[in-house]
Amino acid sequence: KVLDDNTMSGFLNESETKKLPQAIIIGVKKGGTRALLEFLRLHPDIRAVGAEPHFFDRNYDKGLEWYRSPLSILLEAPHSGEAPAQQDTNHNAARCHPAAETERQADNFFLSAALRYLLTTAVLLRVLLDGELMPKSSDGQLTMEKTPSYYVTKEVPARIHTMSKDTKLIVVVRDPVTRAISDYTQTRSKKPDIPSFESLTFKNMSAGLIDTTWSAVQIGMYAKHLERWLQHFPSEQLLFVSGERLISDPAGEMARVQDFLGLRKVVTEKHFHFNPAKGFPCLKRPEWNSKPHCLGKTKGRTHPNIDPEVVQKLRDFYKPFNRKFYQMTGCLRHMNQ
Ligand code: A3P
Repeated sequence: KVLDDNTMSGFLNESETKKLPQAIIIGVKKGGTRALLEFLRLHPDIRAVGAEPHFFDRNYDKGLEWYRSPLSILLEAPHSGEAPAQQDTNHNAARCHPAAETERQADNFFLSAALRYLLTTAVLLRVLLDGELMPKSSDGQLTMEKTPSYYVTKEVPARIHTMSKDTKLIVVVRDPVTRAISDYTQTRSKKPDIPSFESLTFKNMSAGLIDTTWSAVQIGMYAKHLERWLQHFPSEQLLFVSGERLISDPAGEMARVQDFLGLRKVVTEKHFHFNPAKGFPCLKRPEWNSKPHCLGKTKGRTHPNIDPEVVQKLRDFYKPFNRKFYQMTGCLRHMNQ
């Protein structure tokens, strides 16, 4: 999760600059967003931040400059001893006791140095832990990030539009029932004591009433969330990637993505190797002649068996949402209509 190749070379190449992202993978959680980002990072014209910055949902109050480069804010900030109120106090003290002024200045210097050191360390730690730092990129390169919660967060479409109305938006969608089970599997891996999937699915089990407030269910109502995006962006600016095809035909899906981003078709079949033990395509860098690299253990978890009746109830629940989503986008046709 920490500093990756992209970020490190970003630190090293001085001729490049940090830019706001021109394209964002906005969702959906457990759709295959990590796989897509890692596939895109094989492309020499893409620079992508490795971790999820969560700028437009959790860190928006920090401002765009923080998003572009949180370190620049610190480095450009005036010394804390220069705050006007403090200067006034020092000035008055100097009028009365010149020696006290020198002492106070020295105190301020050390205090401010210590404070800056602490702040820098704190920011560096956050950058290392959270990675919210745009990598440097050259003129011909696209800067990207992925934060899957953007797709379902009400305020985000307007905020991204305010940053740039031209931002290209990519959504990886997957059968919403499998997505919900995948989401549950992830939560259970961190909190093994949570109730069963079956009991969380229903508000009232005997009445068969689905709990649409449960995020695992809610995220899969793709059409409902899409309506909000289309209030701010024309549909041509959104690309829907099939999470299923990203596994069965990664090169084919990557051809669509590169086309949408206006990139040369560099990532092709030769970059993928299907690993039968993992059950997923892994990445190859033919130019490096290295061994294929698979995504980590948290991608491709074994799902628990879910009561087939519950699965069917969820399939029925999603039918109208899938149909509407298909009408809006042409995606998810293969899913039970
Ligand atoms: P599961 O762990 O439920 O199988 P995200 O990155 O958005 O959290 O999505 C995780 C999902 O990506 C995984 O869900 C897995 O099915 C899917 N995926 C797609 N391509 C993959 C790949 N090449 N390697 C591993 N997982 C992949």
